Amino acid sequence: MLTGSHTMKAVVMRGYGAPNVLEYVQDAPRPQCAANQVVIAVEAASVNPLDCKTRSGELRLMLRRRFPLVLGNDVSGRVVKVGADVEGFAPGDEVFCMLDANARRACNGFAMSGSYAEYAVTRADTLCRKPQNLSHVEAAAVPLAALTAHQALVDRAKLREGQRILINGASGGVGSFAVQIAKALGAHVTAVCSARNVELVEGLGADRVIDYRETDFCEESRQYDVVYDVVSNRSFGECCGVLGPAGVYVQNVATLSSFAFPLVRPAAKLFGREKRLEHVWVTPSGEELAKVARLIEAGAVRPVVESVYPLDRAAQAHEAVESGGAAGKTVLRVA
Ligand SMILES: NC(=O)c1ccc[n+]([C@@H]2O[C@H](COP(=O)([O-])OP(=O)(O)OC[C@H]3O[C@@H](n4cnc5c(N)ncnc54)[C@H](OP(=O)(O)O)[C@@H]3O)[C@@H](O)[C@H]2O)c1
Repeated sequence: MLTGSHTMKAVVMRGYGAPNVLEYVQDAPRPQCAANQVVIAVEAASVNPLDCKTRSGELRLMLRRRFPLVLGNDVSGRVVKVGADVEGFAPGDEVFCMLDANARRACNGFAMSGSYAEYAVTRADTLCRKPQNLSHVEAAAVPLAALTAHQALVDRAKLREGQRILINGASGGVGSFAVQIAKALGAHVTAVCSARNVELVEGLGADRVIDYRETDFCEESRQYDVVYDVVSNRSFGECCGVLGPAGVYVQNVATLSSFAFPLVRPAAKLFGREKRLEHVWVTPSGEELAKVARLIEAGAVRPVVESVYPLDRAAQAHEAVESGGAAGKTVLRVA
């Protein structure tokens, strides 16, 4: 039998389904850490569409999960325990990160021990110190979405100063970071969102905003060096006409083309076709998150928090995220 100091409040999932499969419990076992891991007392966690897709079973062929599990990839909180091999972090440090999925398999009887809980465990190299100018609620809104945008723009598109980028889905969790990171890199940004979010996206620095209900950007005559299809409701083929001669189309949600393109690319290059399709699949990295943190501390990037729910209302938070229309991120206040 577990005693109070070994248990925690958490949102546990015992099978795929609607938001009501998210069960709030007070006696979940706390995670332990291995030599290269740390345990974090969670102050806030954020809800990503990935969590909703994992919960519903939409990704079950790709991300085969065992149960019971605790969802949640993003965390902001305080280090409470460090493994024997961990250097650079100590109990009491205020940190934020995207948790390492692999590190979460082994501990405390949960198939995955995510951040919808009072304590979470992660590999130390996923950690970053929390930016001083953010609250824990704001910091929890950053890691997965900002890392996705950073990896898409820097690693995949190799976006440079002076280039022109179009961001489709600019008002959401990932898009709101993509607009700001692209501006920080010195690009000219065209953002695509719905009319109600135009002002928000302009406030994030977009040079030009398109309401997708009024204008189809694929039908315009402008050309871009990069199209970042955050919402991924268009295709490489549809966007080719607006890509410059060596333009890059970056997709957030994989399709068959994401896997087929690398196979046909050598032939396309032989015929002088330089345009390319890239797919981003976010990976946790403390080092890369530190680059985002520097942009936040410099005032170049800020998280957009749409709403905050207490941990025991995680199911309602999922309903809100799934109903769409939110600008920025939905956060769970845990502590
Ligand atoms: N590959 C990866 O590693 C990775 C990582 C993170 C996310 N993702 C995926 O990327 C997608 C976006 O994630 P997110 O966190 O940014 O989601 P989100 O916060 O729900 O944002 C989605 C945005 O899409 C916009 N949108 C809806 N219909 C649109 C349309 N027809 N044209 C243009 N924009 C439209 C909405 O803007 P309006 O409200 O203004 O309509 C909304 O803000 C999700 O499918 C997610 O699973 C993939």
